[in-house]
Amino acid sequence: MTCFDRRRFLQSLATSSLLLASGERAFAAATHTMPPAEATPNFNPDIEMELNAVTGEIRVLPGNATRIWRYTGHVLRGDPQALAMLDGSGHVPIIRVRRGQKVRIHFNNQLPEESIVHWHGLHILQRMDGHPMYAIGTGKKYVYEFIVDNRAGTYWFHPHPHERTGYQVYHGLTGLFLVGDDEEDAAKLPRNELDLPIIIQDRSFDAANQLVYTAGMRDRMMGFSGRRVLVNGATDYQRTVPRTAHRLRLFNGSNSTLYRLRWSNGKPFTLIGTDGGLLERPLTRDTLTLAVAERADVWVDFSVNQPGEEIALLAESWSPMLDNITGAQTGAPLVQGARAIARFRISDGEARKTTLPERLSTFPALRIEDAVNRNKPRTFQLSMARGQAMLNGRTFGRMDEVAEDEKVKLGSTEVWEFANDANFGMRMAHPMHVHNLQFRVIRRSGASHALSAGFTDDGLKDVILVLPGERVQVLMKFENHTGIYPYHCHILEHEDLGMMRNYLVQP
Ligand code: C2O
Ligand code: CU
Ligand code: CU
Repeated sequence: MTCFDRRRFLQSLATSSLLLASGERAFAAATHTMPPAEATPNFNPDIEMELNAVTGEIRVLPGNATRIWRYTGHVLRGDPQALAMLDGSGHVPIIRVRRGQKVRIHFNNQLPEESIVHWHGLHILQRMDGHPMYAIGTGKKYVYEFIVDNRAGTYWFHPHPHERTGYQVYHGLTGLFLVGDDEEDAAKLPRNELDLPIIIQDRSFDAANQLVYTAGMRDRMMGFSGRRVLVNGATDYQRTVPRTAHRLRLFNGSNSTLYRLRWSNGKPFTLIGTDGGLLERPLTRDTLTLAVAERADVWVDFSVNQPGEEIALLAESWSPMLDNITGAQTGAPLVQGARAIARFRISDGEARKTTLPERLSTFPALRIEDAVNRNKPRTFQLSMARGQAMLNGRTFGRMDEVAEDEKVKLGSTEVWEFANDANFGMRMAHPMHVHNLQFRVIRRSGASHALSAGFTDDGLKDVILVLPGERVQVLMKFENHTGIYPYHCHILEHEDLGMMRNYLVQP
């Protein structure tokens, strides 16, 4: 067997034995008190690590330290670099793995409340997905075991306990999950210190430098937006960069804010990847719109710049109501109507030219012809009225609740349509997310908005922004795993308010 075959074979073994367990549970009356997963003796991990959710503090602003919640951990087996803390932040973990690797993660909840970890964007067994039904209490442990079955890309992880996701993420629980593979290696993209995650998160601080988060009815409806925009946990992100090409992994890790980004020198972005990994070929965009949870990988060539030059990443902040709130957020003077959230200072030294390949990757086949409902998409109405955020008029009910129109068949390909008709109630943008898969955007209809030019509807996606008045159709395939998975609005306050439902993949 080739190495790849062997992996597939091992994977199918692991999948079939675990499938039974997860399949049975999916149909049993799941409650909040699902038994936590434990280590299985016949699973032989390439990488094994401990990941703890703890309380702690960091220095963000001058003066008092800020109390936060954070992930800590260390590698028990395999590459010690598989878990590192993001440069400069000291508290944002980055897990680095390769496709096909077997991973075991011992998650310890040392928070004063329930939590569970969700691996955002991963194609994964139900029991490993971090559905809120698996939330564990203080002092409890949950062991994740899975085979990394995603293309190379920028994925991430965050807590997913029902009604507390917004609070926990806001207080610092966010990490990156970077997957590498042979196809990505072949593209010879900038690596190591030339591969920079840029995590954008807004936060508010009180006079004692402590985080302010309110989840009163207004914030729950409108989404909570902090007054300062932080990059990688810093209020003033600056980095001196060598005169060569870099890869920036832009990621909106805020609770509700939409960002519209551009370069201070007016150059367009070279977009090379989105949520589910590399595009087939690079694209250019004058602006980039990033909704909550969306990722955009860009390539930027600093070899054309002179030593000492400074280039800033400018951000406008937009609320889900589509108000430009850049001015309402403070903490930095405005530059061209936006805020410089990250500054890159070009270092001295020779410029080193590199080129970006014209072809970056090949997508897995996901064809519209295969859709069982090509002309009759499964439509989900997004609505917000009377203090409720709903999907097809329903909110999140029992942990395992699935309606008739939320059942799909294993192996089938479908078109789903997110309809933000906004005929009644509040007109708001909703970034919709589906667990366990990556989809392709096939149609977007509705009037164009200032944010539209920066959409990243290309490539494989797991979050898609749907503006009021828009309908977006996506194509997805339900592969390998049966069971219950959530789909929801990724404005964390909306998700906590119940703008989340389950779908069931049936054998
Ligand atoms: Cu990042 Cu259920 O989501
Ligand atoms: Cu997710
Ligand atoms: Cu929403």
